[in-house]
Parts: sequence; C-alpha cells; structure tokens
Amino acid sequence: MHPARVYRSSGIHDPVLRRGYEECRRATRARGEIEYAVSLLLPPPLRIATWALYGAGVTVDCLADTAQPSDTKDAGRAERLEAWISAFDADLRDGRSTDPVRKALIHTMLTWNLPPGFMHTQFEQLRLDAHGRRFATWEEWRRYNGLVTTPFLLRAASLMMRVAGLSAEPESIASGVPEAAVAWQTAADAILLTDALVDLSEDLADGHVPLPQEALDEAGVRRADLLDRRSTPAFEELVRRLADRARGWLDRTPVPPVLHPAVGIALGAYTDLYRLRLRAAADAPAALLLRRPAVPGGARLRVLLPARTRVALAWTLFPLPVRPCPPPEPAGPPAGPARAEATEARPLTTERRPVVPPAPHPSGARPPRLPAGAVPRHVAIVMDGNGRWATARGLPRPEGHRAGADALVDVVHGALEIGLKYLTVYAFSTENWKRPADELQALMQEVPRQLRRITDDAKPLDVRVRWAGLRSRLPADVIETLVDAEQGTRDRTGLTLTVCLNYGGRAEITAAAAHLAQEAVAGRIDPASVSEHAFARHLHVPELPDVDLLLRTGGDQRTSNFLPWQATYAELLFLDTPWPEVDRRDLWDAIEQYARRTRRYGSVPRIPAQARPAHGA
Ligand code: IPE
Ligand code: IPE
Ligand code: MG
Repeated sequence: MHPARVYRSSGIHDPVLRRGYEECRRATRARGEIEYAVSLLLPPPLRIATWALYGAGVTVDCLADTAQPSDTKDAGRAERLEAWISAFDADLRDGRSTDPVRKALIHTMLTWNLPPGFMHTQFEQLRLDAHGRRFATWEEWRRYNGLVTTPFLLRAASLMMRVAGLSAEPESIASGVPEAAVAWQTAADAILLTDALVDLSEDLADGHVPLPQEALDEAGVRRADLLDRRSTPAFEELVRRLADRARGWLDRTPVPPVLHPAVGIALGAYTDLYRLRLRAAADAPAALLLRRPAVPGGARLRVLLPARTRVALAWTLFPLPVRPCPPPEPAGPPAGPARAEATEARPLTTERRPVVPPAPHPSGARPPRLPAGAVPRHVAIVMDGNGRWATARGLPRPEGHRAGADALVDVVHGALEIGLKYLTVYAFSTENWKRPADELQALMQEVPRQLRRITDDAKPLDVRVRWAGLRSRLPADVIETLVDAEQGTRDRTGLTLTVCLNYGGRAEITAAAAHLAQEAVAGRIDPASVSEHAFARHLHVPELPDVDLLLRTGGDQRTSNFLPWQATYAELLFLDTPWPEVDRRDLWDAIEQYARRTRRYGSVPRIPAQARPAHGA
C-alpha cells in the first residue's frame, strides 16, 4: 500500500504530521530493514505507530551518536540531545509540536495513550551514550539494553497485545506475567546481540565497541585490533559463538499464543528474518569489521511472501478489534488539496459544517500571548458559588444557575480564543441530588437550554461536546440533549468540552472497577494484567487526558469528588469569585498563573540554567 493511502486510512491529514511520519518511516527503513519489512505486515494505524516509535528512536539515537565536524568533543552531542529532550517534554505537555518527528511521535503517544515517562528511560541512557559507551561485563551490557531497548520492545509487545483486544502494559507484562516478560526480554537480548554484530562496523567508526570487554578477553580478542578493523581467528570464532548464542535465545522465545493471529505471523516473520541476519553475520565474520552483512534477497522473500499472504487472510478473518483513538488534528485551512483528501478519507462522516469563530469579549479583551507549550492542554473547572451569588442579591438560588450558564458560554468562547483543547466543567454532582426539588428542577431545565446555546446549528462553535456522568435519575430530555450534543458535534476538532453532569468521581472509578471485574469473570482479561492504562479505558470518557489545571470558583478549597482519577497531578487554583461573575478573562488569568508554575511529576526539573525563570516568578 502506498504510504499516502496508509496515512489516509489512519486518519492522518495534516501535512506536517504526515511529513513527520514520513521521516520516521524513512529512518525505520534505513536503520531497521527488518523492522520496516515487518511493519508492512501490520494494519495501517499500527504500522505508522511502529514507524513513529522506531523512527523517532533512531532520530534521537543519531543525535547522540553522530559526531558532527564542528564538535570538538562529546559536549556537542550532549547539547543536541538535551535540546531535543527539553523540546520533546514541552511539546508533549502541549500535545503538539512544530518539529515533524516529534509531532509524529507525540501523535502516536496520544493515539495509543502511551505514558509520557516511557521515553525517558531511553533518554536517560542516551545521555550516558552521548559521552561514549563501554561495557566491562555482560551484566553491564544487559543493564544498558534493559534501559534503552527493552522498554521499546515491551511497548511494542503491549501494543500488539492490545491489537489482540487484551490489555497488557509493559510494566504489567514485566511484573504481572513474569514468563511473558522473560520471553520478551530473551527476544530483546537476541535481537540486540544480533544487532551488535551486524552494526559493528558503524559502531567502530564512532569509536564504540558494542560488546563487553569480558567477552573480548575470554575469546582473546584485542580491542585495538577491532578499532583498527583487523580480523583474527579469535574474532571469527567469537562471532560464531555469539551468533549461536543469539540463535539459541531466539529459539527459546515462542510467539505468545494470546496474540492476534496476524500479529503472531508478523512476529514469526520478524524472528525468522533475524535468524537470516545471524546466518549472514556468522557466514562472513571478518567482513563485519568493514560493513553490515546483507541478508540475501531470495531468503528474505521466502520469509516475507508467505507471511504477507497469511497476514492478509488473518486480518480479513479477524479484523483489528481495537480502534486506536487519534487526538484531534488542528483545524486546518478549509481550501487546498489536503482538505479535499481529508473529505475523501472520511466517507462516513457527513460533510463538516462550517463553524463560527468565537465571539470577542464585549470589553475587547484579547487572550494573552503565551509561548507555545505554556497553555495547558486540559483545564477542569468546579463552577461553584451560583447559589450564594444569587442569595447575596436577594434572588432565588435558581437565578444563580441561570447566570452561571452565561458565564460558561463566555468561558467556552475564551477557551477557543486561547487555543485550549480540553475544557471539563462540573455542572452537577451525584451529591447534588440532596438539594431542594425546586432547585433541582431549575438546574435540569437550565442544562439543556444552555447546551443548545453552545451547539446551536445557527451559530455552531468549533466545540465537541462530551458528557461524563450517570444516566440514573436524570430526566429523559436531559439525557437526550446530552446525547444529541455529543452526536451533533462529533466532527468538531477545536475544543472538547466535557460536561460532568450527574458525575461523581468515586462512582466513575467504582463503575470502571465493576466493569473490569465483569471482564475478568468472563475470562476476557487476565486480572494480573490490569494496569492504570487498562483501568482508564473503562472511565466515562476514556480518552480524556490528565487534567493540567483544576480551577474552583466560589471561595471553597476542595475538589468535591471531581475527576479524582484524571486530576492526580493537576495544578490547583482557587478563586474567590462566584461562578456567575467569572468570564473568559479569569480563565486567561488562571492560565497565565499556570504557565508560571513548574511541574515536576515527582522528578527534578531539567531546565537549562539560562532559561530558568527568576525565583518566585
Ligand atoms: C454550583 O453552585 C452549581 C452546582 C452545584 C449545580 P452552587 O449551587 O453549589 O452554589 P453555592 O456553592 O451554593 O453558592
Ligand atoms: C461541586 O459544588 C459540584 C458542582 C459545582 C457541580 P458543590 O457546591 O456541590 O460542592 P460542595 O458540596 O460545596 O463541596
Ligand atoms: Mg456549592
């Protein structure tokens, strides 16, 4: 399939994003001949994810490995790497990037909900790499691989299990299913040892000997001979022995039977290609010092051609059970070929209705200009203080809710103006049923009325509405309005407005736990494989990202059962202003305050000294 079709069928229409995936694809093809061949056996969404993960890995690795002529020493590599990592962190927080490769990687991470920390183990080791790497013992070699490459492999394993409809996080493969972890680890060691042999000439060119000193000493091979590209009988014997060892490891790693049959076939092809690679290395050991050994084309095709046929049949018989959930693409300019392609690629969606831009604030206020990455991705608001606001004015409490709804509409316009992607608002909690009947009635009337204001067909904003909450006790017309709003705004890509109505955080978590328990009892999941990620898939709105900023108005400083799962690392901000008096300027102020905070996620900040904000700023 031509790459353009692969992107189309994966829903990738943004030209910069495509360019990023293309760069990753080319890097994969250039450096991972086998990985590339196997990626072509996977369905498009998984194929491009493989390119992004592998290709971005190659890109970062090249930053660390490739000494440019201007470099006097390793400092240049380290600096380039550090700049890339800082930019990646900032982009990931922002959920977008202007660098195509990072953009593709972040898109894949968001689509498959990969945890941000997972790239970091790799970065950490690459930092060490940037200063040159040497292994004294096999133990050290293994530890290095465990840090750098095994996380990638386990991640790939976890993606493949998810393709089979199973939930298995790398961490849970490692801790919950020890045999599976050992199998993947052994496969990883086999692959890494093979690659150490076939990449020997390139590593030597960079001054690295990728094998442990211990192995050289035992075999009587001198490091200096290798760096001078001098082959000896001892070296040739060492290569043959290592190739045997890697082959033995490969033979010990059966493809786990739980995988989707097509993925099983792809993995089988992968190990077969590695066996060919090993044979090519062992057949001409001396040549490894000069160039990468080529796998004979005929043998390659004898593995790949039947695999292609069997994989195609398997995907036809058992279609991909998991639908990846890509993050929304930025709304691009409506004209031009990219747009035409996008329409063609989404035959199921009705034509996207035009949207109106957000109306400016009556005061003429404009959103603050913040550096890219400073705007949070997800703001959640406890819209509190309606009742007290009304009472203070001698009005009945329901009047406060009416005024509060106007505030929400203004804040939504402001969220669009500042480019926020996710706004989640607490409209009615499972505890609010304790209120007097007249107040409940007013609230239930107000909600549908206000929702229609936002999704009104005559003046549609670029807002996608989601509802998080329980159906029980809600009047039918409220449920209908919420469901209609969700349906009617499905094609919107600007802002996702999640309305938490009849929502309770504990109820949400309890429902997810109950659902998982049912799945386990039915034998569809292995309880040992339940991870945070697998758990989150059972929340009301599984794709809701973590909350960056949680704001509460009305003067109280508590979260009142709001988003306990999603807001564990949110920055908290409490305003005294009652919600009916809030407008978009308060949202912008809050975002500016957020932008000045340092988020550490349990780590230590890696901010270059010159870019560090002044203390207390
Ligand atoms: C928040 O305002 C809206 C809802 C809970 C529905 P309140 O109604 O809680 O207002 P106060 O806190 O009583 O002032
Ligand atoms: C939280 O406000 C719920 C909403 C804003 C919808 P409450 O007013 O119900 O919170 P508590 O009871 O004062 O904590
Ligand atoms: Mg309240």
